[in-house]
Amino acid sequence: MERTRWYKDRVFYQIWPRSFMDGNGDGVGDLWGVLEKLDYIQSLGADGIWFSPLYPSPGADGGYDISDYLDIAPEYGGMEAFKQLLTEAHQRGMKVIMDLVINHTSDEHPWFEKSRRREEPYTDYYIWRPAKPGGKLPNNWDSNFEGKAWTYDDVRGEYYLHLFAVKQPDLNMDNPLVREEVKKILRFWLDMGVDGFREDVITFISKEEGLPDEKLPLPAGKGISHYNHGPHIHEYLSEFYRDVFSQYDCLTLAEAPMITPAKALEYIEEKPGNELDMVIQFETECADCLFTDWIPMKFSLRKLKSAFSRWQTTLDGKAWNMLYIENHDHPRIISRYGSEKFRTESGKMLAVSYLFQKGTPFIYQGQEIGMTNWRPDSPDKYKDVQTIWKYQNTALNQSDEKRLHRLWRSARDSARTPVQWSSEPHAGFSQGKPWTSVNKNYRRVNVAAQEKDSDSLLNFYRKAIALRKNLDVVKNGTYQEHEKSSSQHYIYSRETASQKLYVICSFAKKETKWKCPKGLDIEHSKLILQNYKETLPDRLKPYETRVYLMEQ
Ligand code: NOJ
Repeated sequence: MERTRWYKDRVFYQIWPRSFMDGNGDGVGDLWGVLEKLDYIQSLGADGIWFSPLYPSPGADGGYDISDYLDIAPEYGGMEAFKQLLTEAHQRGMKVIMDLVINHTSDEHPWFEKSRRREEPYTDYYIWRPAKPGGKLPNNWDSNFEGKAWTYDDVRGEYYLHLFAVKQPDLNMDNPLVREEVKKILRFWLDMGVDGFREDVITFISKEEGLPDEKLPLPAGKGISHYNHGPHIHEYLSEFYRDVFSQYDCLTLAEAPMITPAKALEYIEEKPGNELDMVIQFETECADCLFTDWIPMKFSLRKLKSAFSRWQTTLDGKAWNMLYIENHDHPRIISRYGSEKFRTESGKMLAVSYLFQKGTPFIYQGQEIGMTNWRPDSPDKYKDVQTIWKYQNTALNQSDEKRLHRLWRSARDSARTPVQWSSEPHAGFSQGKPWTSVNKNYRRVNVAAQEKDSDSLLNFYRKAIALRKNLDVVKNGTYQEHEKSSSQHYIYSRETASQKLYVICSFAKKETKWKCPKGLDIEHSKLILQNYKETLPDRLKPYETRVYLMEQ
């Protein structure tokens, strides 16, 4: 089957279903809600949807703990609602990709239930190990969410590995039967008409033989050097490609923690049979932290720019970038790289900073209206397994106030509150009581209000997306960064034989002096997008952004 790489012309919208829109009033977002809002998603100019997991799940990790890969959770509307959604999305010319979570399952998946009882052929579906002499854990690895990566199972009398929550046992991908199960799952959804997958922590699926102790002095994720890009990763991904993906014109988007652009090329370089199409890298999410949001640092524009530019230039002509600034795993971007005080201005600037780069942009629900970090008054309101563990086990010597602030700053829940549709009760998200709290700013920040305001962030996103779709230079132009050493301004240009695009973004919270860099001929260009009505020749206002186009 020819791979047309249709994803290069698309803009995706990410839905984290529990918090998107509740269609039946039970307080939980669902597919009926998505159906109601398809027009809205389309009105943004988005023509692709990535669904975070919709499968049946006990919900230990927001659905990333799956107990049945071949069904849709009843609370989301079940298979019937999903099929309707797929049909309606396709009728609108939209593509739909699912989340594929195969590094681990839920501990309530029947495979695990059988594996812990050593029922064949499931005995080796997971990674089981006896205790080491002296009752010690099988190795020194940390889980990414809840302390150590090993939990003892009384039924089996052994430890199982879980790189994430205790309720997310890792599958043993070295077992060919497990890989056959994965292929069955892939075919099931692709045959139904799904257009591809976002593959959860896919670079973690092959663990080093012998599961050796981590020797590196890592601040987080002890063990990662023995399971990220493990020894059989290319073999397994090639097998999935050969046996399944090559037979469908689909998209494979890989989540790849700690990957560099050079390493990414091993997976996504465009050549016959490339294992994956795009990666979700983390480097552009680490401009204000060290590896993880839980090790915060001062925001560094230079770090962000260097990451943006390295991905743009290393992949150029070889592979395709996935562009994003928000998703369900990080706090809201305005609260991090922008400013809540200049919410609309900085939201617009942040949109421009990535939407005019080369690649396929993704927008995370609520980003387009500038939702900011949720600020609850008590730690008890947090629901995420990782957040709860961090709260209970780290920074215990700090004041309550500081610890709460830490959650606001680092927790994934900060970006998982219900989408703010209107100023109605519960932000118009649900007729019932929402499963989690709504951000208190919903009366001010909501879709309905921004629909009415031609100058709103929402309408700015629409404009920016329409522009990027109509400009060949955005899809095909070269990329060049200017004023690299500036710690306040991010400036890049894009160029084809017939068009030049100049993108100017100020990350400063004050007005700054600015001199147009050499090589940017803004005098002969047209200002096609801006976030302040008036622009000055030698200054940039707080979080100002401008996009100039020159047709040559
Ligand atoms: C990455 C997902 O994006 C995240 O939400 C999840 O908790 C982990 N992988 C584990 O599946």
